[in-house]
Amino acid sequence: MERKWWQEAVGYEIYCKSFCDSDGDGLGDLRGVISKLPVLKELGITCIWFAPIYASPQADNGYDVADYESIEPAYGDLTVFKELLDTAHSMGIRVIMDMVLNHSSDEHRWFRESRKSKDNPYRNYYIWQPPKADGSEPNNWGGYFNEGNGSAWQYDEMAGEYYLHQYGIKMPDLNWEYRPLREDIYKMLNFWLDFGVDGFRLDVISRLKKMPGFPDSKKEPAKTDRNGFVIDRSMCTDVEGIHDILRELNERAFGREDCMTMGEGAGITSANALNYIAPERKELDCVYHFELASRTRPAICAADFRSVQKRWAEVWKKGGWSIQYLSNHDSRRQVSHHGEDGIYRTRSAKLLATLLHTSPGIPFIYQGEEIGMVDVRFDSIEDYNCCYTVGPYRALVENGYSPEDALAEVAVKSRDNARTPYQWDDSENAGFTKGKPWLKVNPRYREINLKKDLAAPDSIFRYYQKLIALRHLHPAVVEGELSFYLEDHPQILCYTRSCEAETLLVIANFGPTEAELSLPEKLSSCRAERILTNCPETAPNLESRTLLPWEAAVYRLEA
Ligand code: NOJ
Repeated sequence: MERKWWQEAVGYEIYCKSFCDSDGDGLGDLRGVISKLPVLKELGITCIWFAPIYASPQADNGYDVADYESIEPAYGDLTVFKELLDTAHSMGIRVIMDMVLNHSSDEHRWFRESRKSKDNPYRNYYIWQPPKADGSEPNNWGGYFNEGNGSAWQYDEMAGEYYLHQYGIKMPDLNWEYRPLREDIYKMLNFWLDFGVDGFRLDVISRLKKMPGFPDSKKEPAKTDRNGFVIDRSMCTDVEGIHDILRELNERAFGREDCMTMGEGAGITSANALNYIAPERKELDCVYHFELASRTRPAICAADFRSVQKRWAEVWKKGGWSIQYLSNHDSRRQVSHHGEDGIYRTRSAKLLATLLHTSPGIPFIYQGEEIGMVDVRFDSIEDYNCCYTVGPYRALVENGYSPEDALAEVAVKSRDNARTPYQWDDSENAGFTKGKPWLKVNPRYREINLKKDLAAPDSIFRYYQKLIALRHLHPAVVEGELSFYLEDHPQILCYTRSCEAETLLVIANFGPTEAELSLPEKLSSCRAERILTNCPETAPNLESRTLLPWEAAVYRLEA
């Protein structure tokens, strides 16, 4: 069967605010992105995912959309975006937009109208409920951005009712039960497809449908905050009826030719993923899960990687397509989290990349990963921006933590680790801006920056280029079946990707110490050509031997 463009793609996420500032206001912008397209082309990526660039008051850095059909003025306007799109297309790079359909900003025109009165035509664009008899919230649901007040409901004086917001107070949930809202959303999605974008990354897409009647959560044991509100994902995640919404979205917009959809799979597991991505269901093309990348989980080990990939490979065999990533704007920097940010930073960054780019699905690189950017640790909470960092910090301090202990607790998991400005070179502010950056630059920028990587033939950037080139040369990377060997080994990953044309073998020592590789007969008897390694000083032939810390290599097997 003929492949879709995105099945062969190598993705790259741009968090525009932190990418490249062309006008010195301290915020990245679209002209900045245009100026860097040539280097992205040189890297070899074929698809950009833009984190939201719509007009927004930036309560959640753009995930609070005030106008879905215009560009945030600090980033540019529709004319510049069109220029960007045309330039990217002329270079063979597709562009997908982040689409936030669960909520908007409270500064969206729809919400401003909605608050005004019960008979306002936009009232039902959002989810309003009256207070209980004692004036309290309609139910015990807790929100994700709780900032110390955990309810997912906010009372609005003007409206005289509570509105639902699963995320920030300034991010009211949209009401997908209301036909006119749906029709407006379809118009907007088609506006972007007509404009020329190639698809959408869909923010928290599994959460559009809420539990009918808004019953109290009876979750036991309940994870409550200190005000007794319950974080119960089952109330708004993967709720029965979500698939009717997705099918209609597909019928009215996503199903258009060549449009790619990739859902953020909050609450989507290997057990229910096919309900979202099986092609015959006509909903989404792919979803990504959080099992390896979540910023709150411990570092992954070889066994985690193996078991997650094996389980999900079974899903993808039955249908749909997958995404591979270990970091994005919501996570920590992958080399700090899962690799080693010390003497083996470069080597471990290359190992992680090898795993992602040789596993089934579309690898998505998050800006800066290709030069091995690392987590940051600022000295003061004032230097942090992320609401998942500042809110919990305040709550800890109110609960008696010292400011130092509270900061230590929240900093390591902060999304700001991934959001510090891109490190282009070793000049002031890492070449990101001539002004004052909206978020401080990571002080390690003199050691870690693109200019340095471009000048070194063995840099992380140069390794990514080779890995990406592999995908374009070797069909097994795209379509090969996945099989693991040495499945009990605590540190070594050993797997093949086989298709009719060829078999590739990946060997990776996922850890900071040497490890003994003892190849199974089936592999040791093969003639093999090493086509990539992060340790070129080692013998190129395939043999049982001691692997260096974080060593990774790809071989092409001849039977
Ligand atoms: C997921 C996005 O990736 C994250 O950055 C955002 O805060 C939430 N959804 C809410 O939109």
